[in-house]
Amino acid sequence: MGIDYKAEIERLKQELPVTVVAHYYQRDEVFEMADITGDSLELARKCKADENPWVVFCGVGFMGQSVKVIAPEKRVLMPKIACCAMARMIDGSYFDDSIDYMVKHGIEKENILPITYINSDATVKAKVGEMGGMVCTSSNAFKIIEKGLESGKKILFVPDRCLGQNFAIQMGLKSCVIGEGECDPKEADVICFNGFCSVHQLFTLDDIEFYRNKFPGIKIAVHPECDPKIVAAADFSGSTSQLIKYVSELDPEQKVAVGTEYNLVNRMRKKNTYVLSSTKPECPTMNETTLEDLYNTLKSIEDDQPINEIVVDPHTVKYANLALERMLEIK
Ligand code: 13P
Ligand code: SF4
Repeated sequence: MGIDYKAEIERLKQELPVTVVAHYYQRDEVFEMADITGDSLELARKCKADENPWVVFCGVGFMGQSVKVIAPEKRVLMPKIACCAMARMIDGSYFDDSIDYMVKHGIEKENILPITYINSDATVKAKVGEMGGMVCTSSNAFKIIEKGLESGKKILFVPDRCLGQNFAIQMGLKSCVIGEGECDPKEADVICFNGFCSVHQLFTLDDIEFYRNKFPGIKIAVHPECDPKIVAAADFSGSTSQLIKYVSELDPEQKVAVGTEYNLVNRMRKKNTYVLSSTKPECPTMNETTLEDLYNTLKSIEDDQPINEIVVDPHTVKYANLALERMLEIK
């Protein structure tokens, strides 16, 4: 007979000093096994406050890395070290190129304040931290950019051009995207790197029109990783936790189409809730983690041969931690 993964995972969680963590985009069967769930910001805060020495993180690479940076004393394992496609769009050298671009266009390095979306590698966060910059997530980007502007400097926002532009629009700021049309840093407040999330690019104006024609009065709610023209056409935009709250507070008879990852939308209240896409917007890397992977990772702790451990070098931990802590300090 095969292994009863659920029962074995429960047993291992009881017997080991370990916390299982899962992002909302994980498959249902994995998500149900977690002790801590949430969006990126909640997971960072809750993991920091958690007391177990072992963390098994079901999510994408930058999330496990962030726990290791915030709490280097913890042993962090990931059932699958799957890399978020957006995080992979920028590395240290692309970050340096973006700074050079701004310098060539007349902005001195001292007058640049970098902000990185948490969906980035720890090496990028470290470069941001070294320059006095901060990390943000989709739930606190407004506050972080607001704080950044207090410095009087130009904001370099990496890697998500959509998130950077969406919050700039919301805040009445001028923005541009490096490599996309004219981008003169002297003329803009927020200068964005040209990264994006391919999952959230799937939602189109045609999808919105389709639902509005089919169900007049339907609400459209989307994640700020969607293109600015989608966010502008929607009734609401917010992080995963903010979307969950928005949908849960709607009248049960109110129809809503949600533009974010499929596993999350599918888990929201079932009636009158639609996926804002004719395709299935699954995040391929978030979906890589299976129950078997989770079991194997927990078992590796029991067997004293931990697998897929997250290691971050001390220099990167030091400076990436500065950028993350500056974010966590802002309530
Ligand atoms: P949240 O910050 O909303 O959890 O988003 C993370 C993410 O990867 C969205 O695609
Ligand atoms: Fe990255 Fe997009 Fe997947 Fe979120 S949905 S983890 S941004 S690839």
